[in-house]
Amino acid sequence: MAKKEIKTDVVENENHCLIKKSQILIGDGRKAFIRPLEVMDKTGLVSFYTSLSEVTQGFYVLDDYGEKTAVRLCESISNPKKLHFVIENDLSKIIAIMKFSLDLPEADRVRFTQYGVDLIPGTVSRCGLCIADDYQNVGLGAVALQQVIDTSDSLGLRVIMLSGGIFANNGRAIHLTQKFGFQIVGKFTDSNGQEHVDLLRFNR
Ligand SMILES: CC(C)(COP(=O)(O)OP(=O)(O)OC[C@H]1O[C@@H](n2cnc3c(N)ncnc32)[C@H](O)[C@@H]1OP(=O)(O)O)[C@@H](O)C(=O)NCCC(=O)NCCS
Repeated sequence: MAKKEIKTDVVENENHCLIKKSQILIGDGRKAFIRPLEVMDKTGLVSFYTSLSEVTQGFYVLDDYGEKTAVRLCESISNPKKLHFVIENDLSKIIAIMKFSLDLPEADRVRFTQYGVDLIPGTVSRCGLCIADDYQNVGLGAVALQQVIDTSDSLGLRVIMLSGGIFANNGRAIHLTQKFGFQIVGKFTDSNGQEHVDLLRFNR
């Protein structure tokens, strides 16, 4: 299991002051660092997206695994509702991206209403995680989820949503999120006929 230790409070973007830069000790001896996404991460993010295997892309579906997505994400961080963060290795290479937002798209609100869950804008955070193939299953997902939970708790938010749900066959993501208190509240089938589960974590 990876252990997280706070190393420094240095944060370059005041919109991301809630995400503290910190070191992660991975169980296999490797070190990693969690920090806010920055505008200058565009190139690193393109390298990250283009390195993802077909299997990982199959679980983490994007319109574009390159510059378009990287630019959009990096430029979104001027929005105070975007608290995206990355994990990098000891060579400063991005090895994970956590999309973490405080807004609630209307389509999500409507979908959850159909499950009988009324989400109130301003009380919900949303997250979506992808870890580089070489770093999966060594505890980084747990560290990243804990960061989202701690930040959401400190903001007094009531609910955390897994953005876009999780593919029903993504056993690892479902196991991990349930371990952190997320509950399946509904299911839906996308336009390609693939099944997803929608999960929420109700904060204390
Ligand atoms: C899913 C993902 C985010 C999980 O992060 P991670 O760092 O690999 O996960 P961790 O190492 O923190 O934890 C994995 C847990 O799942 C378990 N696990 C691994 N494979 C599993 C499987 N096929 N079925 C069920 N559980 C599984 C592990 O044993 C571990 O649980 P434990 O701590 O109770 O032993 C990461 O693997 C990833 O980015 N995958 C590709 C993209 C993706 O699926 N994104 C999620 C979309 S929401």
